[in-house]
Amino acid sequence: SFEQSLRPQSLKQYIGQDKVKENLEIFIQAARLRQETLDHVLLYGPPGLGKTTLAAIIANEMGVNIRTTAGPAIERPGDLAAILTALEPGDVLFIDEIHRLPRTIEEVLYPAMEDFCLDIVIGKGPSARSVRLDLPPFTLVGATTRAGSLSAPLRDRFGVLSRLEYYNETQLTDIVMRTAEVLDTVIDNQAAVEVARRSRGTPRIANRLLRRVRDFAQVKANGAIDEQLANEALELLQVDRLGLDHIDHKLLRGIIEKYRGGPVGLETIAATIGEESHTIEDVYEPYLLQIGFLQRTPRGRIVTESVYRHFQMTVPKT
Ligand code: ADE
Repeated sequence: SFEQSLRPQSLKQYIGQDKVKENLEIFIQAARLRQETLDHVLLYGPPGLGKTTLAAIIANEMGVNIRTTAGPAIERPGDLAAILTALEPGDVLFIDEIHRLPRTIEEVLYPAMEDFCLDIVIGKGPSARSVRLDLPPFTLVGATTRAGSLSAPLRDRFGVLSRLEYYNETQLTDIVMRTAEVLDTVIDNQAAVEVARRSRGTPRIANRLLRRVRDFAQVKANGAIDEQLANEALELLQVDRLGLDHIDHKLLRGIIEKYRGGPVGLETIAATIGEESHTIEDVYEPYLLQIGFLQRTPRGRIVTESVYRHFQMTVPKT
């Protein structure tokens, strides 16, 4: 589909994550040369950095189909069995949010990953018996925002562990330019840099901002995006110079105004600003930690001096 063509289809087209790419390139080539199935791959890191895209690229480069599901969607062993028995040899099974897989399902997954077989129980009570079902060899690609929440036995069954990192400004600028080309949009380099700067190191955000700026250019100008137009549009979108949005502001100001800059526990601050603690932990916090705006201490979260300066507030004396 059109949406799909926005995503890079090959490792060559994929910008950034150089270490991950370099490794995958070798493992994929080796598996192909040996005519084997690629080892199971765990992709982890903050949301929006391209885990799903990479899973699709892995399947593409291996020349196999991809079947996609998510941890919370697999509730009973039968759900997983249905997916696994429908695979063709060599296929990629992509499980997003794999840390949310129920423990009972994890146990079904172990022999499937290790020996490509399923132990299923037929019947109930005294007549119940276990049968072993052979599966086609497959590659499990798991994605998670929290590698730490995976059980050790599950984590240990992945042969390849790849951590995705935030993108730098140059890489994001390249991604914005590439996406603009796919969308048939004219954007100058300075405007692309401005969108990149405000994207929190995250391609998904960069591409979303680009689409909104493009809407703005279409309605308010001749469709071409220059730096001034990009800045006006981004202002209107309430994305600040560092790419922080309304919720980042609520979080940081909440800690400053209600808890004198912290420390404050995650659950407490979540309740104070009315956001899910999981969303704060998985989506908002990682970037604020990365840019040094938040710190985690044993007694809770604290904001740093940079936050006061960013908001043009007086830095409190300690
Ligand atoms: N679009 C989104 N993420 C991308 C990436 N890493 N490389 C190229 N295009 C992208």
